[in-house]
Amino acid sequence: MGKVLVTAPQLPIALDMLEKHHQVIGGNSFMDRAQLASQIGDVDAILSTLSDPLDGEMLSLASSDLKIISQCAAGYNNIDMEVARKRNIAVTTTPGILHETTADLAFTLLLMVTRRAGTAERLVRARKPWRYDHTVMLGTDLRGKTLGIVGLGQIGEAMARRAAAFGMNIIYSARTPKDTAQIDRINPVTQPTRRVDTPELLETADMVSLHCPLTPQTRHLINADSLAAMKDSAFLINTARGACVDEKALVFALENGIIAGAGLDVYEDEPQVTPALLEMENVVLLPHIGSATVQTRAEMSVLSARNILAVLEGKAPLTPVK
Ligand code: GLV
Repeated sequence: MGKVLVTAPQLPIALDMLEKHHQVIGGNSFMDRAQLASQIGDVDAILSTLSDPLDGEMLSLASSDLKIISQCAAGYNNIDMEVARKRNIAVTTTPGILHETTADLAFTLLLMVTRRAGTAERLVRARKPWRYDHTVMLGTDLRGKTLGIVGLGQIGEAMARRAAAFGMNIIYSARTPKDTAQIDRINPVTQPTRRVDTPELLETADMVSLHCPLTPQTRHLINADSLAAMKDSAFLINTARGACVDEKALVFALENGIIAGAGLDVYEDEPQVTPALLEMENVVLLPHIGSATVQTRAEMSVLSARNILAVLEGKAPLTPVK
């Protein structure tokens, strides 16, 4: 029997699976840095979440028995992979589960911000007078527009398929060329998907959606210069990681008409949101709910638990970060 630390509220399905074989600590509430530091020296496995500070300093406190960090998320930028590798701690994530759900949310943001759905809904909820009016609440159509996708991994590809179905042309930037046959089969009317470099993507796209991991290379990928390179009619969608965008520069761009609007599910200093964003009508703000459906979160929980069970049985992890 091993000891499994669950660092954040977790679904009963995962806790039940783990409790059948191991002692489980936590799982009902978030742990802050001090709580994590006080537990990490005495556990065999961690079921983690993306806000856990599993940096080098924290991992240096880990027990030599710690065999696996099972991150219940797609991203793992909160984990110091170099230290984890050095210490032979397997790190796993939940690939292949949440991409369709997250792309649904990215597309929701795209539709909401271009059709001004947040503003329109606030108007109704505020009980302000309104009537059908040919001249107000006019948004922007997606069909015939170009969507620039930064990072054509599983989520980016799922976003591209949705956009193609809405009649959008797709351009993307990625380190390596991707197979785009599935995207191009969706709509006979759209142009073939093209890989471009980031400057061309920013200049050409009518809407830009971020689907890259947060790495030293992508931190502040969207900054004052890249925002200035975008069309002043362009919209930015971010369901990736907040720090891929310089949020101060984004606020300036939105306030000064450098771009037309933004749809955000993630923030640079999460869960803080730059206050100026809260006042703007040309942004849609969601609280990091990209993968938040009953079905997807349950599948993520089960896979996270299965990774721990496998490793604590001496087997290979199912979905390791390579
Ligand atoms: C969510 O942001 C995830 O990485 O799963």
